[in-house]
Amino acid sequence: MRKPLMAGNWKMYKNAGETAAFFDTFRPAVEKTAGRDIVLCPVFVNIPAAVAATAGSNIGIGGQNLYWVREGAFTGEVAAPMLKAAGCSWVLVGHSERRQYFGETDESVLKKTVAALEAGLNPIVCVGERLQEREAGETAAVLQSQFTGGIAGLTPQQFAGVVIAYEPVWAIGTGKTATPEIASDAHKVIRQAVAAAFGAEAASAVRILYGGSVKPDNTATLMAKEDIDGVLVGGASLDPKSFAAIVNY
Ligand code: 13P
Repeated sequence: MRKPLMAGNWKMYKNAGETAAFFDTFRPAVEKTAGRDIVLCPVFVNIPAAVAATAGSNIGIGGQNLYWVREGAFTGEVAAPMLKAAGCSWVLVGHSERRQYFGETDESVLKKTVAALEAGLNPIVCVGERLQEREAGETAAVLQSQFTGGIAGLTPQQFAGVVIAYEPVWAIGTGKTATPEIASDAHKVIRQAVAAAFGAEAASAVRILYGGSVKPDNTATLMAKEDIDGVLVGGASLDPKSFAAIVNY
């Protein structure tokens, strides 16, 4: 059985005070929630506020990005061991906004994933097709190629520490959720790619999250699909009541 993972990606929203205020409401709303992993990924500078607000709770904190070198002259970057030392246990890698605006490639995704694992962080590696790729019938090929160019380069041991998030770019922030069927089909493609690269056992163990306009009212139908093991939520994770409703779907 794969344990559901309910993750929120705050992107570039909230300051430290707003971060702490979120947890004042959110923490009590999920403190009795069992059998699910709960993760929030604030902006880098608010990680200390989030870690302090969630100390001793069932809520994990993650970064939204990292650089693969441990330390050095890389102005503006944050290394995996620094995230770990700040209290993170998770990190997003290869989000489509990083790919679209900040030059993230499958190659950098692989390096960042390895660096995260070496620092003891659990990477959530994002893949997903753009609208024109879906319309051209290229979804499966795009997912396969992001997987092959990225995390298929891990060792089986490394891969066991990875969570994959399927986020169709056309569904992010648009209010256009993929139907549970569309999401589930994509998750099957990814799981088959995992089976081909790492074997059946790895494929049945890996958690694949869906992300893209997840809201309290569509979470249960998405989560009902056998191949959907959790969600990665943007906009609806910014409000504590809304994200608590998603976590407690
Ligand atoms: P929305 O939930 O706002 O569509 O964002 C999804 C996302 O990109 C999460 O990483």
